[in-house]
Amino acid sequence: MPWTNIPLNDGTGTSIPSLAFGTAGLEDPAGTVEQALSLGVNHIDTAQIYGNENEAGVGIRDSALPRDELYVTTKFSGGGPELKSIKESFQDSLDKLGTTYIDLYLIHSPRWAQPDIPSAWKELEDIRGRPGQDLTILLASAKVKPAVNQILLHPYVFAQQKPILEFSKKHGIVIEAYSPLMFVDLTFLHITRLMQYSPLRRNPGGPLDKPVQEIATRLGVTPEQVLLAWTKAKGAVVITTSTKKERVLGYLHAGDLELTEEDIAAIDTAGALGLPLTFSGVSVSRSHARALALFFIFGLVLLVLIKRISI
Ligand SMILES: NC(=O)c1ccc[n+]([C@@H]2O[C@H](COP(=O)([O-])OP(=O)(O)OC[C@H]3O[C@@H](n4cnc5c(N)ncnc54)[C@H](OP(=O)(O)O)[C@@H]3O)[C@@H](O)[C@H]2O)c1
Repeated sequence: MPWTNIPLNDGTGTSIPSLAFGTAGLEDPAGTVEQALSLGVNHIDTAQIYGNENEAGVGIRDSALPRDELYVTTKFSGGGPELKSIKESFQDSLDKLGTTYIDLYLIHSPRWAQPDIPSAWKELEDIRGRPGQDLTILLASAKVKPAVNQILLHPYVFAQQKPILEFSKKHGIVIEAYSPLMFVDLTFLHITRLMQYSPLRRNPGGPLDKPVQEIATRLGVTPEQVLLAWTKAKGAVVITTSTKKERVLGYLHAGDLELTEEDIAAIDTAGALGLPLTFSGVSVSRSHARALALFFIFGLVLLVLIKRISI
């Protein structure tokens, strides 16, 4: 099945393209966006905090595609250094992207839903939440249900994210899965983010490698394509990215891949085993990494205390 659109619950009959092209951290956002659009991508994902809405807009215009053939997502990320309101930020995004409308506007994170979620929701109808709590608060006050929830999703975090997938399904909320090819551990996100945030294929060594490679070999495709097909099979809009033409074409073809139930189950099982943490390419076990991190934090606290006592 190709990358078909997924209907939204907003009562307008609109739908969202199920493959999105992310722009975070791109060195040449305009050129990369233009390249992706010229290859057949039709959904661009950017955000206030990426600082590249201008360039993404240039890429969109350079593609010369009619606006109504494109789907553009951007996000309120706290209002920038001037702490602009959601309304002001939205207008800024329109101006920077050079468009008269944005198809999907998200609050980038619950921490930017200020002063509280119900108040922020009054200004906006799409929000991203963490499992359970934020969306529950939101739905309790919302007159209009959110249509889309953008979350981290790949096989290594599937078990943690399952409750939010189920909750969203129950409420007709479409899940967008970002970083489908990345190593990120939710529990360690803040401490070890930099150490783990590297593409799956650039930093292999986890239990997923074997089943994903076996499926890829059987189907004659790349492991990335298998991972995108797995994410799609979970019913999510997939948000990935690439600076490379061949890879973008591969992502587009991944929409035609048919994984069997056994393939999906094998990936689920391997993902649930978790990922060995990597420090400069060297794998260590989770328990060792946690012990190391705690030891490090304890050492720091001790140092601060000793310094205070000696003053
Ligand atoms: N809402 C949020 O908080 C949030 C957070 C993170 C991301 N996002 C969105 O999601 C988008 C995608 O995120 P992501 O970049 O984390 O997606 P991803 O799909 O996990 O990773 C894409 C990256 O993987 C690399 N890659 C793919 N295959 C590879 C291979 N075989 N070997 C080495 N590298 C390979 C690509 O590099 P090449 O360029 O070399 O192909 C690209 O940089 C972002 O741009 C952003 O729009 C949203």
